[in-house]
Amino acid sequence: MTELQTKRDLATAGKVPAMRLEHLSKTYPGNPTPAVDDLSIDVFEGEIITLLGPSGCGKSTTLRMVAGLEVPDSGSIYFGEKPVVISDQGFRLPPDKRELGMVFQSYAIWPHMTVEENVAFPLKSKKMQKAEISERVDAILELVGLPGMQKRPGPLLSGGQQQRVALARALVTEPKVLLLDEPFSNLDAKLREQMRIEVKLLQRRLNIAVLFVTHDQVEALSLSDSIALMNYGVIQQQGEPRILYEEPANEFVRDFVGKTVLFKGSVRDANPSGVLSISIEGAPNCVVFGHGYDPDGFKSGQSVFIGVRPEDVEILPAGGDELAPGMVVGVVEAALFVGERIEYQVKVHEQHTMIVYGERHVPIEDGGKVWLRLRPEGHSAWPSDWAVPVSALVESD
Ligand SMILES: Nc1ncnc2c1ncn2[C@@H]1O[C@H](COP(=O)(O)OP(=O)(O)OP(=O)(O)O)[C@@H](O)[C@H]1O
Ligand SMILES: [Mg+2]
Repeated sequence: MTELQTKRDLATAGKVPAMRLEHLSKTYPGNPTPAVDDLSIDVFEGEIITLLGPSGCGKSTTLRMVAGLEVPDSGSIYFGEKPVVISDQGFRLPPDKRELGMVFQSYAIWPHMTVEENVAFPLKSKKMQKAEISERVDAILELVGLPGMQKRPGPLLSGGQQQRVALARALVTEPKVLLLDEPFSNLDAKLREQMRIEVKLLQRRLNIAVLFVTHDQVEALSLSDSIALMNYGVIQQQGEPRILYEEPANEFVRDFVGKTVLFKGSVRDANPSGVLSISIEGAPNCVVFGHGYDPDGFKSGQSVFIGVRPEDVEILPAGGDELAPGMVVGVVEAALFVGERIEYQVKVHEQHTMIVYGERHVPIEDGGKVWLRLRPEGHSAWPSDWAVPVSALVESD
């Protein structure tokens, strides 16, 4: 799929983004490398765009520049047609004039106020009528799962409840632009899932633009219209969640978004479209297809690593001494029951030991001979002289 054919591109063609970040860079004094390096992102009305990446990659710095809490060294920010920052011209709208909602990474509510006072605060400063304030506060507290908590003092709330008060306070003015920095990090797993759905529904209803920060890939994949995956202040790839998962631009993206099982293999045919047919080493009858990731292109016979998502490998008890076509043979070294599935450590013939997921209803004992069946297509091929990530291998031969 080319960039221009994505659903998002079609849906947003000709529209002005609700939030436009252009070539933003920021280096903190005393730091040798930029926290954010030439970052550009568009967020349209009704979209959730997620900044995803490891700790320290520059996610919060980006959000803080949008909110006006950090000054970019260079670049521009616009909300719709309205300029917010134009570094070249030394123009910066003060934070309180940006009209955005924000929930910080560390939930910050005012401890000397009740829940109601916290949430009502932004409305009071807008000089809204008392009755309307009360109505809005009640509605938003209901929405974030804190009904009846109006009079509770801030310090008498759990961490998760404080975070929800912060979310309610950010949403109560119904801003066009909402910045969320790990807003669910203090919530338990069930509540996180519920809040994700609630935020998504609310965001659809209000049709606002949300720039969301998380280092949790499941959260990013499930919530976002588009993900910008960052590392060392630089966007590594931006696109619809499925594209990052199925067509990672580089090894960092491949290994950050989801898990990968790596097989050794060699290219049979290199098609100009980038799709390769690949033989798996030690399994002469197993040929699969995948996207090639090498800027220099692949040649027939070239050794490669083939990246396979764990759910694209099926593990079966071996059917006999003759290896069936399309199968790779292995032996289970360890079987770990983890609830919804069994994780097998499998020593694959002429390959590394790897982790493969199996159904919990068909358990295979330690030492059991297995056949691995790979989906015929949709894999990825990587030059074999690139570093093999530790996470992809259990041990080497
Ligand atoms: N006020 C500051 N002064 C100096 N360096 C800073 C400051 N704030 C952040 N940094 C550095 O800038 C880089 C980016 O930090 P940032 O807070 O944006 O990361 P992050 O992606 O939000 O990480 P996390 O997931 O841990 O919240 C880090 O290397 C961090 O140490
Ligand atoms: Mg952060």
